[in-house]
Amino acid sequence: MSDNDKVNTGHHIEDKELIKNARKPVGELGHQILDRMNKSHEAMAQWGVTHFEIAPDSKILDIGCGGGRNIERFAQQISESGRVVGIDYSEVSVEKSIELNKKSIDRGIVNVLQGSVSDMPFYDETFDIVTGFETIYFWPDFINDLKEVNRVLKKGGLVFFCNEAVYREGEMEKYDDLVELLDMKIYSEDVLKESLEKTGFKDFKAYIDEDNDWICITALKI
Ligand SMILES: C[S@@+](CC[C@H](N)C(=O)[O-])C[C@H]1O[C@@H](n2cnc3c(N)ncnc32)[C@H](O)[C@@H]1O
Repeated sequence: MSDNDKVNTGHHIEDKELIKNARKPVGELGHQILDRMNKSHEAMAQWGVTHFEIAPDSKILDIGCGGGRNIERFAQQISESGRVVGIDYSEVSVEKSIELNKKSIDRGIVNVLQGSVSDMPFYDETFDIVTGFETIYFWPDFINDLKEVNRVLKKGGLVFFCNEAVYREGEMEKYDDLVELLDMKIYSEDVLKESLEKTGFKDFKAYIDEDNDWICITALKI
């Protein structure tokens, strides 16, 4: 493999063709990256979910659900009166999430759909909680997509995002390769706050894990 086949992710040197699949997993490499992300995002996700509460009857939507590990986690925390729905625009992600959550789908507490965050097939005010792990980097129109998140949340409902990368002035060079390869946007705490406040949310809170450079945020629908 030549250097041209590799990308510096800011943390490791990786195979370009595999990492390309982080944006929209397809085919065999898509399957591979989803298996990997279900494990490699676990520590961050476990940290992130300590920042909000789930009730037994919560209706939760996980956008960009990928391999479905967070759907599985939430399904373990709800009762028969709760629901977890996963949505992802990648066919392979939907397939993987369904495979991992088959038992909960059969019990009727989980559903997984293919679709884009920009135009979701849900009624207004359906969910108590909307989550997105490692996905907002790729959303095509952040402000309009946040309005769509706001639309499907109940009043007072909670939005939660968790990212492994956070924008810091003067420290972004390490991500140059990755940002170019994936055409991704790495948001700062300030931009997240401003964007959420512009799109009908209040009570913005951000939590940063300095050792790992993780950020997670919560806000409530007004
Ligand atoms: C880096 S993966 C993260 C997957 C999973 N949330 C995790 O933490 O392991 C990003 C996921 O977001 C999905 N995604 C990206 N843009 C999307 C969009 N506009 N609408 C729906 N899903 C999207 C991708 O298909 C992919 O499955």
